[in-house]
Amino acid sequence: AVQGDPAILELPSWSTTLGMPVAANPYGLPSRYERALQRRESPGLTRVGGSSVSFTPLQGLFGIITPSGLHFERHHQGWHDVDPARHRLMINGLVKTQAVFTMDDIMRLPSVSRIHFIECGANTGMEWGNVAVPTVQYSHGMLSCSEFTGVPLKEILDMCGADYKKGRYVLAEGADGSSMTRTIPMELIESGEVLVAYGMNGEMLRPENGYPLRLVVPGVQGVSWVKWLRRIEVGDQPWASKDEAVHYIDLMPDGQHRQYSSIQECKSVITTPSGGQLLLDKGFYNISGLAWSGRGKVTRVDVSTDGGINWRQARLETPVLSKASTRFNIDWVWDGKPAILQSRAVDDSGYVQPGYGQLRAARGTRSIYHNNAIQSWKVVESGEVSNVQVL
Ligand code: MTE
Repeated sequence: AVQGDPAILELPSWSTTLGMPVAANPYGLPSRYERALQRRESPGLTRVGGSSVSFTPLQGLFGIITPSGLHFERHHQGWHDVDPARHRLMINGLVKTQAVFTMDDIMRLPSVSRIHFIECGANTGMEWGNVAVPTVQYSHGMLSCSEFTGVPLKEILDMCGADYKKGRYVLAEGADGSSMTRTIPMELIESGEVLVAYGMNGEMLRPENGYPLRLVVPGVQGVSWVKWLRRIEVGDQPWASKDEAVHYIDLMPDGQHRQYSSIQECKSVITTPSGGQLLLDKGFYNISGLAWSGRGKVTRVDVSTDGGINWRQARLETPVLSKASTRFNIDWVWDGKPAILQSRAVDDSGYVQPGYGQLRAARGTRSIYHNNAIQSWKVVESGEVSNVQVL
């Protein structure tokens, strides 16, 4: 601070007056000084807000948990605040006893709480061909990580006497107008990881995120995390519903489409410094970011500040959890010269996050889903940071 700093010499009102009473905000809100940190729609991306996406402001978050009010939203047909008293979950198909559960029925069952990331398969989807968006919020903000509470779907299927021999798939259906139906392989459910969840970050789900009930399918692309979950059908083959046959398929370089590529492969991104931010001066910076893998735990993140020539190993902050976001940090002393910042993650299956050259060689440039390429942020002498691609 400068000499004679009024912030020290003059007493502010908060040191000389009575503060606000308790419960002035019965449900707490962030400081008014943090109002710029918001979910945002990417300008021009979609024509109607009811079938759109709002992105999480990753550049302003710490640790791994996404505050519920900043969890990204993706709706195909808008969201509703569904009355939990009128919501039902029906189980049918290859089961001994078909059943209908009320929310009260579900909330009496033994529950578990688990921290997982959810990433839309279309995250970073605008960048397949070239740089398209300026900030990490728009390039990677269809990613959130929360603690989800609910009942393993396996428990509910056991109660209904599911035929696990013939019934190798389930269909999950949402109660909104989008007819959202997704096939989930029974192996995932038998692992006990798939949850019928009502809780998120210690409270009930937010309406935008599927209140009062959604499916949690760790490691799998967001579209399978069916919101406002109303029906589970056990069947003997994949359904090839519209969101599996026409959407959420990968256009390959040979012109064919690949179906049922559901797992979100290992990926990472530096969240600060990132596109649209400004470095004030040369000197010390903490480079910070997130890494995640739909196959398990992140085991290592390397960071380059020279566009991929040299790499240094970043610190993984605890907790490092399976199929959850992992925070990494690394020290950096900026010499004031142009730099290109990149991160590259590795998971416990040994998979290494690919560069754009490698990814495009396998997948081409006209796909939408599953872009997990290494992200590059360019820093110029003025300190401005922008989105670039390095092959
Ligand atoms: N479930 C229903 N019923 N309707 C939807 O539109 N969108 C899906 C999925 N589940 C959707 C849905 C998609 S594409 C994604 S990426 C995730 O929900 C987004 O979850 P979120 O809005 O909680 O971030």
